[in-house]
Amino acid sequence: MDAAHVDDDLVNVLFTEAQIHEKVGELAARIEADYEGQDLLIVGILRGAVMVMADMARALTRHVEMDWMAVSSYGSGTKSSGVVRILKDLDTDISGRHVVIVDEIIDTGLTLSWLTSNLSSRNPASVEICTLLRKPEAQQMPIDVKYVGWDIPNEFVVGYGLDYRERYRNLRDIGTLAPHVYS
Ligand code: IMP
Ligand code: MG
Repeated sequence: MDAAHVDDDLVNVLFTEAQIHEKVGELAARIEADYEGQDLLIVGILRGAVMVMADMARALTRHVEMDWMAVSSYGSGTKSSGVVRILKDLDTDISGRHVVIVDEIIDTGLTLSWLTSNLSSRNPASVEICTLLRKPEAQQMPIDVKYVGWDIPNEFVVGYGLDYRERYRNLRDIGTLAPHVYS
């Protein structure tokens, strides 16, 4: 669905499907250049990163392995708690592998900071982070993010995998959720 199907649930459309497509292509091109001649595993964080992983993998013009993790930050609604639990671990042994974690958004940074140190302890050749969106004002943990699509204001956004209570993930655009939806 697109923004017209959820009309007054959004305050605005931040990024259209076309803009997202272009940005994911740019990120893929950078990753492709940086890992030229090297084996590469991309790890998507379920469930939000499904769309960006699918588009990222297809934008690459080389072989890439894909694996998935599911983590819970013990929060529901619009806030992250920082307590992370692995719900689904990797199927892949990442020792000696080059890994890029692909996520859709970095808010407080708590989830990815925890996840990066968890994966780093498994002796990979390298671990980097790629995120489509980042909210610099919300960040509570300093993390080194190599690939960022856009920095956005500290507002709750939905679409392109991002949900509010499991809805809006299938929205093609990314928009700011209207406060009347969650208050
Ligand atoms: P963290 O606060 O960086 O740990 O973010 C944890 C997770 O919260 C993200 O991976 C998203 O799944 C979710 N999240 C954070 N901000 C938003 C948002 O604006 N919309 C939808 N989900 C969000
Ligand atoms: Mg997520």
